[in-house]
Amino acid sequence: MLPFCKWLEHTSVGAGIRESLWLFPAIETLHLLGMAALVGTTTVFDLRLLGWMLRRERVSELAGRLLPWSWAGFAVQLVTGALLFTSEAVKVYPNPAFRVKMLLIFLAGVHALIFHWSVYRDVASWDDSGILPAGAKVAGFVSILLWIGIVAAGRFIGFV
Ligand code: HEM
Repeated sequence: MLPFCKWLEHTSVGAGIRESLWLFPAIETLHLLGMAALVGTTTVFDLRLLGWMLRRERVSELAGRLLPWSWAGFAVQLVTGALLFTSEAVKVYPNPAFRVKMLLIFLAGVHALIFHWSVYRDVASWDDSGILPAGAKVAGFVSILLWIGIVAAGRFIGFV
């Protein structure tokens, strides 16, 4: 993987970002805005699943309004994250905080799939009852913990 990281850093994109005075902070700013869109909307949805927020809103309607923003934020994170990584791949690839972050992003993806294929598949049966199934509450709680971990690991990349 190290030869690939070295190659990545020497691409015109990697070198261009690294040698520019403003490109890295500009891309990292977009990375933070993407995070706000992604983690902000998933957290609101998860707090609804826990029954701690927007209790009068139907979960399925909230999902319809919030999840497109989550996906848009995730797309921004993939593009800006890949650009940031390209500029400092050799330094970041062995970084334990970066590895923990990538693992947690993978787990957050698996968790979202399991939620949508299990608890959320029956949303029509519990959405109007106002009674949240335990599985929805657990899913909301686990998701919030995963995203806190991802954000913290992202912040720690520059410090370990
Ligand atoms: C999917 C959700 C993601 C979230 C919530 C997230 C969050 C963060 C946060 C909070 C930071 C610290 C920013 C700062 O210090 O100002 C960061 C930095 C960074 N992220 Fe992400 N990130 C995500 C995805 C990715 C992906 C997919 C990659 C790579 C493929 C990536 C690569 C990086 C890199 C290289 C840095 C810069 C570290 C440095 O300061 O040198 N991120 N991320």
